[in-house]
Amino acid sequence: DESVVRRDRFSGGPARSFLSSLAADERIFEADLEVDRAHVVMLAEQGIVDGDVAGEVLTALDAIEVDGHDSLPDGEDVHEAIETSVIERIGANGGKMHTARSRNDEVAACIRYRLREDVLAAIEATIALRGALLEAATAHTETIMPGYTHLQPAQPTTVAHWACSYESAVRRDTARLLDAYGRINESPLGAAAFAGTTFDIDRERTAELLGFDGVVENSMDASSSRDFLLETTQALSTHATTLSGLAEDVIVFANRGFVSLSDDYSSTSSIMPQKKNPDTLELVRAVAGDAAGEVQGLTTTLKGLPRAYNRDLQRATPHAWETADAVTEASSVAAGAVATAEWNDEALAAEAGEGFSTATGVADLLAANGLPFRTAHEIVASAAERLEDADGSDLDAIAAAARAVLEAPLESVVDLEAVEAALDPAESVASRDSRGGPAPEAIDPQLADAREILAKD
Ligand code: ARG
Repeated sequence: DESVVRRDRFSGGPARSFLSSLAADERIFEADLEVDRAHVVMLAEQGIVDGDVAGEVLTALDAIEVDGHDSLPDGEDVHEAIETSVIERIGANGGKMHTARSRNDEVAACIRYRLREDVLAAIEATIALRGALLEAATAHTETIMPGYTHLQPAQPTTVAHWACSYESAVRRDTARLLDAYGRINESPLGAAAFAGTTFDIDRERTAELLGFDGVVENSMDASSSRDFLLETTQALSTHATTLSGLAEDVIVFANRGFVSLSDDYSSTSSIMPQKKNPDTLELVRAVAGDAAGEVQGLTTTLKGLPRAYNRDLQRATPHAWETADAVTEASSVAAGAVATAEWNDEALAAEAGEGFSTATGVADLLAANGLPFRTAHEIVASAAERLEDADGSDLDAIAAAARAVLEAPLESVVDLEAVEAALDPAESVASRDSRGGPAPEAIDPQLADAREILAKD
C-alpha cells in the first residue's frame, strides 16, 4: 500500500507526538465519522465510488464507532487514524473514502459540525441563566436595595431592576452566539486541499447530509478560514465577562448579608468552621480571565497566517473547545446560584438609604419645584457635607443647607412632606418611573419584553 509506505517515510520521527493531534481530536471523533459517512454516501450517489465499496466503508465506520476513539491506530490526527482503521478492516478499497477531499476540508467540516453542538449548549446555558434572573426579578419587583456606582451607595433601586439589567446583557450574549452559529453552520466539505477537485462532487448534498444550512462557497476560504472559530470564542468570552460582573455583584451582596447563597453553591473552610464562602461565583469570575486568554491565544495564532491551509490551524481549535467548556459550565453554575439564592429583604431595605442615597431624588424634587438643577444639586451636596460632619436628620441638614444657599427657608420652595417622601428609599424608587427605570411600573414592561424574547430564543 503506497500510502502506508509514504507515511512510514513521513512518520514524524522524534517530532511524531508534537505533530499529532490524535488525543485532542477525541472531541471530533464522532463528527469525523459523520463527515466520512456523508462524503462516502455522496461519492456513491455521484457514481464516483461503487455502492458496494461505499457500503463496506460505512460498515467499517460503524464498527469503528462501536470500538471508540481509544481503539484507533496511531496517526497524525483522527482523520488519518480512522482512514487507516477503515483500510485495516476492509482492505485497500477503504482508501477510496478519501477520494475528492483532503484533511483540510475534512477537519474544517468536523470542527464546524462539533462546534454547532457546543454553541447550542452554551446558548442553552445563557437561556437558563436568563430564566433564573427573570424569576428573581419577578419575585422582587418591590424589593428595595441599595444601588452603587464606584461601589459607593448611589441611589436606591430594586432587586428586579438589578436582575433585569443582567438579563438584558445575557440576552445580547445569546444573540451574539446565535449570530455566530449561523456562520458556523455552513459546510466547507468538498473544498479539498483548497483548490477544489476534478471529481463531479455534490457539495450541497454533503452539506444537507450533515445538517449544514449551505456551503462555504470559495474553496480556499472554506478550507483555511477560522474566523468562525474566533468570533465564537469571542462571543463566549464576552459572555464570561458578563458573568464575571454578575458573580462579583453577588459576592459583594453576600458579603453584606443582602443575599444568601444556597449551600450547593457555597464552600466552607478547611480550618475556619464558621465559614460559608461564595467559591462557585469566584470561580465563575475567574473563567472570564481564562476565556480572554484563549481569545488572545487564538487571535495571535491566526494573525498573519497566509492562505491556504497551514498546520498552525491544528493548534487554533483547542482554544475554542476550552472556552466553550469553561464558559458553558460557568454560565450553568451562575444560573443555579441565582436560582437558589435567597434575598434578604430586610437587610436590603435597611441599607437602601445608606450614604444619603436618596440625595438625587431630593435634588430632582427641588428642581421640579422650580430651582435650577445646579442650585438644587448644590443645596443637597452641602446637606450631605453637613451630614458627614454632624448628627441630625437628613431633613434638618437639607433645611439648613437651603437656608444657607437660598437665603430663604426650604418650605418657601417645596412642601416639607414631599422632601420627607423623597428621602424614603421606597418612595424614591417608586418615583423613578422613566422608561427602563426601577419603579415597578417601569419594570413591568421590561419584564414582559424579556419574557417574550426569552420564549422566542
Ligand atoms: N489535524 C489537522 C488540523 O487539525 C488537519 C490535518 C491537515 N494536515 C495537513 N498536513 N494538511 O488542522
